[in-house]
Amino acid sequence: MTCVSRIFGSVAQNLTTAMLFLALLTGCGDAPQAGGGSGPEGGSEGGPEGGPEGGAGVVNVYSARHYNTDNQLYADFTAQSGVKVNVIEGKDSELLERIKSEGDRSPADIFLTVDAGRLWRAEKDGLFKPVQSKRLEAEIPANLRHPEGLWFGLSKRARIFVYNPEQVQVQELSTYEDLASPKWKGRICVRSSNSIYNQSLVAWMIEKNGAEKTEAWAKALVDNFARQPEGGDVPQIQAVAEGSCALAIVNHYYFARLLKSKDPKDQAISSKVSAYFPQPTHVNIGGAGVLVKAPHPENSVKFLEFLASPTGQAFFAEGNTEYPVVKGIPLDPVLEKFGKFDASPVNVSAYGQNNAQAIEIMNRVGWK
Ligand SMILES: [Fe+2]
Repeated sequence: MTCVSRIFGSVAQNLTTAMLFLALLTGCGDAPQAGGGSGPEGGSEGGPEGGPEGGAGVVNVYSARHYNTDNQLYADFTAQSGVKVNVIEGKDSELLERIKSEGDRSPADIFLTVDAGRLWRAEKDGLFKPVQSKRLEAEIPANLRHPEGLWFGLSKRARIFVYNPEQVQVQELSTYEDLASPKWKGRICVRSSNSIYNQSLVAWMIEKNGAEKTEAWAKALVDNFARQPEGGDVPQIQAVAEGSCALAIVNHYYFARLLKSKDPKDQAISSKVSAYFPQPTHVNIGGAGVLVKAPHPENSVKFLEFLASPTGQAFFAEGNTEYPVVKGIPLDPVLEKFGKFDASPVNVSAYGQNNAQAIEIMNRVGWK
């Protein structure tokens, strides 16, 4: 069964390591014991993975992702493996700080987040340890996981164009590079350069076209903005629907959510815009890695393998209307309607490696 303990900004920062550890233990007090009982969640002193009662034990997941389907996902893992899943949820940066401040005593086994650029922040701090798993290597395409197994992509998101068909002919649309063309002057909306999604897009461009060409592209793109960047991806789609901009660059699932929504306001927006997947499409991941100090490394690998199984993939992707990373998993009907696209083969680990350079370029070209 699943135990979820939420943390929030300042609260998390003020808790001491011991209190955080206690919170993990006591926060799960009501959860039924799985697999004949599980031991304490911590205990990184080399004890067996199972608890004192000989159960299959636990896995402690620090997750920056929360969707309704996640609880079912974790419960299914427990039913299958006997391993209880304890989840601590929080913002990405808070969880990373927490893992660091907990140090050797951290009960965290797995860090789960979205965007390869964010996984890289944990990677560069030396928080992940390499995992070798034939199953993960066989199921997850090589470009969607870290080359040395520090983390693994578990769902895939595409950064696409959403356009207003009253202002844009579909024949006008082609690549991300084309958005630098003068024909787009004053017509493009996109969120700010603070967004990891845009940083990763630019980092991908650097990998594909080199830094010099990317800077020229980014400069021309900024010149084509309809307005200064403001708001997240959904407000960009809204601006396209209202006609404030002809085209926006957004993650596909924001548009998918609007399409699935029963709210008339959302339907009013989604009915006025269309999606276009530039070829090749810039893709990113939601993913996870096993922590260097994980007290339950074997359960952690089992958990990741479960997330890459057909059951795990179906739930994990469904939570946010994302694409599974594993082949042959049925797609959400909305994604089926989007049709097939040609995902870029660039290894997403490049987004982290090129992140600093991407930010420098965005600053230099005045991408607010
Ligand atoms: Fe998002």
